[in-house]
Amino acid sequence: MDKLVIEGGHRLKGTIPISGSKNGSLAIMPATLLASGVYTLHNTPNLRDVWTMSRLLGSMGVHCDLNGDDLFIDSSNITSQEAPYELVKKMRASFYVLGPLLSRYGYAKVSLPGGCAWGPRPVDLHLKGLEKLGAKIELDNGYVIAKADRLHGARFHFDVSSVGATGNLLMAAVLAKGNTILTNAATEPEITALARMLVKMGAKIENIGTNQLEIEGVDELKPVDETTIPDRIEAATYLIAGAMTKGKIELTNTNPYHLSAIIAKLEETGCQIDVNSSNISLEMDQAPIPVDITTNIYPGIPTDIQAQWMSYMLCSENGSSKITETIYTDRFKHVPELARLGAQIEILDSTAIINGSSLKGATVMSSDLRASASLVLSALVASGKTEVLRVYHLDRGYQGIEMKLNAVGANIKRVKTDTI
Ligand code: EPZ
Repeated sequence: MDKLVIEGGHRLKGTIPISGSKNGSLAIMPATLLASGVYTLHNTPNLRDVWTMSRLLGSMGVHCDLNGDDLFIDSSNITSQEAPYELVKKMRASFYVLGPLLSRYGYAKVSLPGGCAWGPRPVDLHLKGLEKLGAKIELDNGYVIAKADRLHGARFHFDVSSVGATGNLLMAAVLAKGNTILTNAATEPEITALARMLVKMGAKIENIGTNQLEIEGVDELKPVDETTIPDRIEAATYLIAGAMTKGKIELTNTNPYHLSAIIAKLEETGCQIDVNSSNISLEMDQAPIPVDITTNIYPGIPTDIQAQWMSYMLCSENGSSKITETIYTDRFKHVPELARLGAQIEILDSTAIINGSSLKGATVMSSDLRASASLVLSALVASGKTEVLRVYHLDRGYQGIEMKLNAVGANIKRVKTDTI
């Protein structure tokens, strides 16, 4: 297991290149099950989750080869429609293979994803939607077994906006017989990008980018090359890092449009931000004005930057701020670890009150991807040295985080340890 040893107190100055989107890649990789052939997915990030998805597809006979940021996929010879527990338990997004397997082969056996650090992660909307499209669903020994001679079009309304369920049902509907209308569908950029790739493959999808998707099923699709969208959560994380250290950074290869909500909030805290079509520059010369946020579905403040925002608000020097988490029931696992650095945070149900705190380095433990990012951010401003353990959580979603941050002035060392 690796740990990061971080010396706090360095202002970040310089340029940070943003990688392709983890969640964008995890949405489009399963789409290669829908049409046999060879695909190249450009701008693919070199991340543990991409390796896990590649291994999962590999277990079904799909050949995946990441060369730089080009992911070559050959799905010409699918040998299995089953996703084993050993792989699905590592990454919930493995569940996204259910829809494409079912619509292409009429059969799928996919392990139910477990919970995660911040509570249950149900898949009821995925299953209800597939049943509406004509699937017969059984649960057996922790597996979902789904069968359908051929899925048929239907109308389905998502009780809750769900990124994964929208992706699964989109990939099911494109090969179903007839028309499907999905209402209250997720509009996250990763879903819009998936829909655009499906259209390039020959799918017929209307109202892309809205929460009412209309799909006219086709008989077959064809393989394509695609470019993964930039990672908006990685970009938001580094903007916050620049703001916390009172630095001056420029992010390249971003899509500023995907970050409108967080850019507006950063400006409210006193940041100077300029954007052009693919770059975002940020300068900050003061402690942040405390600003409350409430997480929401896109285009609101993403739940995936909630922990990072908490670290940022710890830097405020006049007053406290509030974070309200509306997407998950208990996504505050990072609070006790931040408290080890001296953070003064109170939790009341789904709300956290953050008081400005002077942080002192300590040893802290990552519990999940974005929680570990918040620990790294706080370590950048804590006095002295901080050790962040279980860095494999970080490696799931941040390509070369210590290299990118050291290149703009941070002092981070990755150390191999034989303890966990
Ligand atoms: C995606 O997860 C992202 N993961 C998550 O990012 C992100 O936090 C989440 O969307 C919300 O934006 C990927 O894209 C791989 P959901 P997903 O289904 O699809 C409830 C990260 O850090 N729900 O949109 O699993 C669910 O409990 C990760 O990169 C149901 O009730 O999330 C939650 O409250 C973490 N029933 C809400 O919907 C269902 O069948 C949103 O979940 C499905 C979801």
